[in-house]
Amino acid sequence: MGPPEGSYEVVERCIKSGVLERYPDYNYEKLKRAISSFYGCREEDIVPTSGAGEAINLAIFALKPKWIYVLEPSYGEYEVLSKALGISYKPVFYRKSGDVFSLNFSDLEEACGREDSLIVITNPSNPLGIYIERGEIIEKLSRCRARVLMDEAYSELCSRCAIELGSGIPENFLLVRSMTKWLSLPGIRLGFLFSSSREVLEKIDAVRQPWNVGSLADCFARELLSRKDEAREFIMRSRRYIEGERKRMLNELKSLGLKPYDSSANFILVESPRGLDLSFLLKGEGIHVRSCASFKGLGSSFIRIGIRKPHEDDELINALKRVIENE
Ligand SMILES: Cc1ncc(COP(=O)(O)O)c(C=O)c1O
Repeated sequence: MGPPEGSYEVVERCIKSGVLERYPDYNYEKLKRAISSFYGCREEDIVPTSGAGEAINLAIFALKPKWIYVLEPSYGEYEVLSKALGISYKPVFYRKSGDVFSLNFSDLEEACGREDSLIVITNPSNPLGIYIERGEIIEKLSRCRARVLMDEAYSELCSRCAIELGSGIPENFLLVRSMTKWLSLPGIRLGFLFSSSREVLEKIDAVRQPWNVGSLADCFARELLSRKDEAREFIMRSRRYIEGERKRMLNELKSLGLKPYDSSANFILVESPRGLDLSFLLKGEGIHVRSCASFKGLGSSFIRIGIRKPHEDDELINALKRVIENE
């Protein structure tokens, strides 16, 4: 859908107010207030970051666990950082039964029992698109000795996900949120980390770079989130659009003989049952989709496609038709 209407005017107003010539507030007090009011959580439990990416880095760097258990297939940055820090990386695979991927919590038993470990769950999962109720994860893992990092970067674009963080998030949980995805503004680096543990927050603050969120992003987020009703309405419209368009795309993809997996997010994992490397074939049509060759447990017969505007999605379907017919 692109960024919310008026986003560029907000950027302009921020620039005109002189933010580029000033450091932001070191403690981000006003930004924390805006985030806490929008997301329904306490100001003191938040660390604003330059995107969810920085929040993940800070969490892993500050906690420096001995082991990182990641539900795979998954976003790759957790492993990159683990390797850089010499942390032992332990993939835990979602189970696949027919057309459905799911998590069997008993697979996390070893991780759960280890005090010096961090369990990472991307929810909704990238690239699978599946969503596990946050309450269920909390119920199953709140008594673990391990800490749990929940990367909720896509939750605003998932109708089943809660926008609010609320109360009741246990001390061994850390939540990561992104503002770049739902705003369609990845260039404005914005996100935050939530924890209700003083100890964790202090550790994170100690490794955080001073002024880690730029003045422009700080100013932009404060103004955008202060228009709470408009921003919420934008999220709801995005969710409705994605849901409708995703349903249409699932049907179109199935009618081409492909195997799309049900998704709660703004993307769909698609398998070519004939083992075709669709990402490679689509490049010949001038279309770039995410090959899943680099995701653990998937391979080059899987692609991940994003839900885009109807005419762009139609273009993709037509190109898929052509490459499948030619093979
Ligand atoms: C699961 C996941 N977490 C975090 C990020 C990083 O998001 P941000 O742009 O907010 O840094 C991404 C980006 O693709 C992602 O897929």
